[in-house]
Amino acid sequence: MGGGKNKPELIVDGKRTDGRAFDELRPIKIEAGVLKNAEGSAYLEWGNNKVLAAVYGPKEAQPKHIADPDRAIIKCRYQMAPFSSLEEHNRSGPNRRAIEISKVTKEVFENVILLDNFPGSEIDIFVEVLQSDGGTRAAGITAAAVAVASSGIPMRDIPYAVSAGKAGDQIILDLNKIEDNYSDADMPVAIAPRNNDILLLQMDGSLSKEQVSKAMEMIQKAGETVTKLQRDALEARYR
Ligand code: CDP
Repeated sequence: MGGGKNKPELIVDGKRTDGRAFDELRPIKIEAGVLKNAEGSAYLEWGNNKVLAAVYGPKEAQPKHIADPDRAIIKCRYQMAPFSSLEEHNRSGPNRRAIEISKVTKEVFENVILLDNFPGSEIDIFVEVLQSDGGTRAAGITAAAVAVASSGIPMRDIPYAVSAGKAGDQIILDLNKIEDNYSDADMPVAIAPRNNDILLLQMDGSLSKEQVSKAMEMIQKAGETVTKLQRDALEARYR
């Protein structure tokens, strides 16, 4: 996000930098159950993003004092591999951005996993970004949802996430990195598709009320495609 002097044109002749229409998703591929040692896992490619998600548990919460006697707790770690982009440096420990994305991802799953079924336990969700090109939190949540479903941990719904934003006056779906860097707004959203509950809504930049509605409309329409890909991946693995 932002601008600067050398801001590239994000829309030329009604097309985006990568040739997509305003409401077009990047190509998405999902595979479920890719890791032998994890209870659940998924590998997802979303445009040039490549993301691996792994789920462990439910198991006894450790250390014991963090356990909740009434329900499971979720631990979530989002991380970008040091080779995932030219920007990420191989510093030890998570940076502020990774801590934030881990937190919002955890909150998504706290609202869909049936935590009451597993008192005193913990469920660990890992999201590893192997290659990044904008929209990795949405890709990570979408992959983690397939990983949780593939673990058999009960959820009320399988969430997905997509972002939408604004370039000039135009609302655009699923921003890639260059769009993310130079757009006027970026709004990642996670949704439980069955009743369209909003599980995450962040905003970088600003949008009018009408623009938010338009962005939400695009996101929910795209959600039909993403949800189908998630379900197809699970079916292909567990049929
Ligand atoms: O990935 P997402 O759009 O959810 O998060 P962001 O903070 O808006 O970052 C946008 C993009 O910038 C990421 O997808 C990466 O491609 C890139 N980025 C990076 O390469 N290294 C970082 N430390 C932060 C962001």
